[in-house]
Amino acid sequence: MNGPPEDKGTEPGGDAGLRMSPEEMRALGYRAIDALVERWSTLPEEPGWVGGTRAEIDARLGPPASAPETPRSADAVLDDAIDRILPNAARIDHPRFFAFIPSAPTWSAVLGDLLATGFNVFQGTWLASSGPSRIELEVTDWFREWLQMPEGAGGVLTSGGSVANLMAVAMARELAGNPPDPVVYLSDQGHSSLRRGARIAGIPPEGIRVLETGPSLRLDPEGLREAVLADRAAGRTPILACANGGATNSGQVDLLGPLAAVTRQVGIRFHVDAAYGGFAALDPRGAEALAGIGEADTVTLDPHKWLFQPFECGGLMARDADELHRVFGERADYLQDTELGSEQVNFGDRGVQLSRRFRALKVWMTVQTHGLAAIREGVAHGITLAERAEARIRSAERLELLFPASLGIVLYRYRAPQGVDADRLNREIQEAIVQGGYAMVSSTRIEGVYALRLCILNPRTRWADVDGVLERVERLGDTLVADAMEAS
Ligand SMILES: Cc1ncc(COP(=O)(O)O)c(C=O)c1O
Repeated sequence: MNGPPEDKGTEPGGDAGLRMSPEEMRALGYRAIDALVERWSTLPEEPGWVGGTRAEIDARLGPPASAPETPRSADAVLDDAIDRILPNAARIDHPRFFAFIPSAPTWSAVLGDLLATGFNVFQGTWLASSGPSRIELEVTDWFREWLQMPEGAGGVLTSGGSVANLMAVAMARELAGNPPDPVVYLSDQGHSSLRRGARIAGIPPEGIRVLETGPSLRLDPEGLREAVLADRAAGRTPILACANGGATNSGQVDLLGPLAAVTRQVGIRFHVDAAYGGFAALDPRGAEALAGIGEADTVTLDPHKWLFQPFECGGLMARDADELHRVFGERADYLQDTELGSEQVNFGDRGVQLSRRFRALKVWMTVQTHGLAAIREGVAHGITLAERAEARIRSAERLELLFPASLGIVLYRYRAPQGVDADRLNREIQEAIVQGGYAMVSSTRIEGVYALRLCILNPRTRWADVDGVLERVERLGDTLVADAMEAS
């Protein structure tokens, strides 16, 4: 038999143009870390958002060009990334980023992501990543405890909440035996990813039942029961109800305990989308609001929201971890060496990704480095600041509270005098705040009314940042109203 060719160290590899010396690697790496630390240190003085139209961005970056055949200096490429490309983006971790849903990672989590990338862990099978897979088991077991899910529950980390919601619907459909006429119940306050998830999991349009919540913004458990019974009577197959564990719009939490009881009684699955609010369970106020979440069949979580992780980090918890394997597990001849018994979990069989990054490392490093008490304090801080904002709005003559603080979110607007279009006025205020660069704020609608929305979950946010926005809303409103009066 021929042995391997003798390598005398002279044979050229295919990487002549791809290699970097250890000295170059270090020098570039240190520069990248320095740029990151500089960004983190100066963030509060930066605007909360930088962006532009396609034409504006083309002007800043230069028009798109074909991929270069020949190399450029690595330093120049790094400069482009740091100085030209990356600054044209929202600073989602800025202390005055209150729009949509902020994400404020810890430095330990950023380092965790960097290490997971550099070690290039493949976390689809235990064979390829036994240490990392054990850590994902540990981290998802922390989540199980925090949500008070029973022993036997388990989870899988995903790219985000959207994929976790899609998986929850796919599980319900598959575990119900793929009935031809399934019905899924959603709240009109549910996240858009649930509707998308239901569609792409093959739920027909007539089987996607969006239930109205009314002024409480909460699902009515009895209304759910009636809807299920009516669908059954009409020959359909109800399979799943999805509730909010912190709605994106308002932070409102459904009555999870009573909803869990109804779903048990009528024999359908119960999913809680807690992508926004799930980690509020670490605070006593959040835990009280989320009471009953541990009874769900599946729960969506998003550590890249309220567990201070960088994108991407979501997760799906299942009351019975084996169900994840039953729905998502697959066998293949070329993977037969990876079948090592159920103790050695193949995370590729718990979800839709085989090639998966090692997301659990950043979560594990955050909790180990700072301790759970610091994380609880960070979560509590957002809830407290939103409650304080609510009190400030209630006591302000020119502001109107539209929905009370719930898990870090508060809805309000400038109180328009008679004869002034309140929706338009508040839209102008929102645009002026964003353009002014002080803070990034976004809007929504509540019961058909235009609302300004504050979403506060960055532990680095101070009361002065929140108060600064409310003051600006008052000042801008005064000016715009005065201008409108003068013009009329
Ligand atoms: C309640 C809720 N569910 C699901 C999602 C989707 O999660 P992701 O953006 O991580 O995919 C979000 C994101 O904003 C959310 O707030």
